[in-house]
Amino acid sequence: MTAIAQPTAQLPLSKRLKAGTSRDHDSVDTLVMHSRPFESLERYGYFLRVQHRFHGAIDALYDDIALNRLLPGLSELPRFEAVCADLAALDLSVPPVPPAVIPSSPHAALGWLYCSEGSNLGAAYLFKETQRIGLDAQYGARHLAAHPQGRGLHWRQFVALLDGLDLSEAQRDEAVSGAVAAFDFYRAALREIFPAA
Ligand code: HEM
Repeated sequence: MTAIAQPTAQLPLSKRLKAGTSRDHDSVDTLVMHSRPFESLERYGYFLRVQHRFHGAIDALYDDIALNRLLPGLSELPRFEAVCADLAALDLSVPPVPPAVIPSSPHAALGWLYCSEGSNLGAAYLFKETQRIGLDAQYGARHLAAHPQGRGLHWRQFVALLDGLDLSEAQRDEAVSGAVAAFDFYRAALREIFPAA
């Protein structure tokens, strides 16, 4: 039997988000690697500042009551404090808390959270790279370390929550737009914070 391409409208939300942002992901991934964040502690410091900008801007979303109703357990997941701890461990000044992003709707906020939580998967690779410059979960790379239950399980639980939401097509579109906006934000932070190569 010939496989028929599934229209995105019928995809579970997580797959829809992935399909709607795969180009954004690849461009951010390439930009991060071109920034050579693990070449030296100095360059890793710029990377931490990018992470600080991103995780600081979305930190309040993790405590949002309406979002916690949609995604129970959300308030246990933010990584902003760990990013601040990593900066402090390396004796780098912790920048002021960045202005909070205000997604256009709670459904757009789901897309921002998808971007942030999914970045934990690629962090497995980034975490390994930090060992080249002498860092680990206790020293400088705490925010990239795996969740105590493991990255895979943690991600599958998050995906199950996303996919269990009963959303209209317009709300699913908003979630994808939110995820695209989150990748755009990350890309802009990278370009601004890393010195030109
Ligand atoms: C050099 C940097 C990066 C690399 C090498 C990388 C690599 C990866 C890999 C290999 C996966 C898939 C893992 C799996 O399916 O088990 C993944 C997933 C993901 N990454 Fe990245 N990533 C990077 C940076 C980022 C950044 C900066 C963000 C967000 C700001 C991000 C967001 C995501 C998301 C949302 C997913 C989940 C995709 C899905 O729906 O399955 N990644 N990444």
